Amino acid sequence: MGRKLLLEKAHVEGIRYYDTYRREGGYASVEKALKNLSPEQVVEEVKKSGLRGRGGAGFPTGMKWSFIAKPEGVPRHLVCNADESEPGTFKDRYLMEFLPHLLIEGLIVSSYALGSNATYIYIRGEYAWVADILDQAIVEAKNNGWLGKNILGSGFDCDIYVHRGAGAYICGEETALIESLEGKRGNPRIKPPFPAVKGAWDRPTVVNNVESLAAVVPIINMGGEEYAKIGVGKSTGTKLISACGNINKPGVYEIDMTISVEEFIYSDEYCGGIPKGKRLKACIPGGSSVPILPANLLLKTAKGETRMMTYESLGDGGFATGSMMGSGGFIVLDEDQCVVRHTMTLARFYQHESCGQCSPCREGTGWMHRILKNIEYGKGQKSDIDLLWDIQRRIEGNTICPLGDAAAWPVAAAIRHFRDEFEWHVNNPDECLKRNYGLAHY
Ligand code: NAI
Ligand code: SF4
Repeated sequence: MGRKLLLEKAHVEGIRYYDTYRREGGYASVEKALKNLSPEQVVEEVKKSGLRGRGGAGFPTGMKWSFIAKPEGVPRHLVCNADESEPGTFKDRYLMEFLPHLLIEGLIVSSYALGSNATYIYIRGEYAWVADILDQAIVEAKNNGWLGKNILGSGFDCDIYVHRGAGAYICGEETALIESLEGKRGNPRIKPPFPAVKGAWDRPTVVNNVESLAAVVPIINMGGEEYAKIGVGKSTGTKLISACGNINKPGVYEIDMTISVEEFIYSDEYCGGIPKGKRLKACIPGGSSVPILPANLLLKTAKGETRMMTYESLGDGGFATGSMMGSGGFIVLDEDQCVVRHTMTLARFYQHESCGQCSPCREGTGWMHRILKNIEYGKGQKSDIDLLWDIQRRIEGNTICPLGDAAAWPVAAAIRHFRDEFEWHVNNPDECLKRNYGLAHY
């Protein structure tokens, strides 16, 4: 049984409410931090923990915190990125829905470390009921003295505000999120400057994912060094994984990053294997933006080593033979799934969500989707496969924000690992039409 640091109490009845959460030991990290530690010491503990950002990029949280600029007299902000929209990713929703006070506790400690008196939770608009749960938990926390002025007599003031998004995936990109928070259209900004220097209302701002901020609670309670002992190498602590697709037990799991991908898919403690004993075909281990891996490269790396559920192992081999931990959205495909259709669906998503600022992304995402649609519906040509490859290559690295890369990588990986499937579509147009019920879909 893997170690649980975040979800340990998720099934305690009433844990969503303050009284139960407090009775179960909640808010101890706020007491410890505000009474015994300076803000700098809290940052130091998070650095020692080795915590890496849980939203997708895996950037060291403590390092990000230490980058925050501190100009005299200028307020600083902490923003919690709860705009969880990556296809296949629903772990933050679970955490906020069942353990809202864990997030609020982490936010208070993190706000103290960063000197944020006004902290925001930017939550995706579709999570409306979760925003209501958070609003209620904030009121409870405030009524019990954990928010507001002079918390625990420490002299530290903090309020938390929930800001609801309006349904745009791009607002999960931190600078688009900041624009949206300021009341503008959610267009990403060019970085640098990074938000830690110039963020919301041009003030130093740290944007962290929900799970990263919740993880600050066990880090402070147990100490950064103890936290760092869990896991392997630079994959410290526990990680929430939302598992879906062709598995027997879809859901949100907390893993301690010492297990293999094979164990995660087949053990009863986690995904419970593939329904009807079908064969594993492929998996996207970290949300739709990361490269798909065929079964042979999923369970073992190209070097023949066991592929582990860690940042390092999932990425081992780079994009040619590896993928990424990403947002922890683990999507499993069995032998019946069509990779071309799957890639087309993702391409449609990225085309729809592109903000349109940069030409390679604005034009390229739509172009890739049109070609993939042609191939899937039996109207493709062999040269289309090379054209697709060329388009994705020209998008990658040439855009303002990572959405361009996120649109390019799934196409690149699908062609790299499943070229024969693309060719089959081109060579069997009638079969493609039959599979699509004779619809040309135009
Ligand atoms: P990034 O690598 O550009 O930045 C990571 C973080 O480190 C940012 O907060 C950035 O401000 C900070 N940072 C990096 N260098 C810095 C410096 N020199 N000074 C100060 N701060 C610095 O990645 P980004 O754009 O934040 O995230 C991309 C990832 O997000 C993708 O890999 C994808 O997996 C994930 N993603 C997750 C989604 C979800 O729903 N959870 C949705 C879409 C993407
Ligand atoms: Fe907008 Fe796409 Fe450019 Fe990002 S890469 S700024 S989503 S057009």
